[in-house]
Amino acid sequence: MTGLIIKNMSFKVGQTMTIVGVAKPDASNFAVNVGPDEKEITMHINPRFNAHGDENVVVCNSYQGGNWCEEHREGGFPFQQGEEFKITIEFTPTEFLVTLSDGSTIHFPNRMGEEKYSFINFDGDVRIKSFEIK
Ligand code: GAL
Repeated sequence: MTGLIIKNMSFKVGQTMTIVGVAKPDASNFAVNVGPDEKEITMHINPRFNAHGDENVVVCNSYQGGNWCEEHREGGFPFQQGEEFKITIEFTPTEFLVTLSDGSTIHFPNRMGEEKYSFINFDGDVRIKSFEIK
């Protein structure tokens, strides 16, 4: 895992994470990963400009037991290379409700079922400007 790693910061049911960042001018893709530790990801949010055979789509998934699970594709693609974006993630009792800059949403289930995750990672072609959990 590379990029910005935040450990021991809890993200709990009832909280909302707000991320403001800028995609790199030549970005192919970037990811926001949330999980219990560096080995498992309960929620991977992966805006792809041009990566893994996809163009302008947000791919979500979880990574459990050393494997990627079932992909979930939902929401719009309000991202542009070199431009600022905002993503909010509301952690409800059953899911992660992700809202993108165009108001479109992604409903991603809390597959690991924990009420708290403490590992957050921003990977790929992105610069994070601000990050908040409240
Ligand atoms: C893979 C990719 C991973 C992750 C995963 C999501 O193809 O290599 O980085 O995005 O898809 O399902």
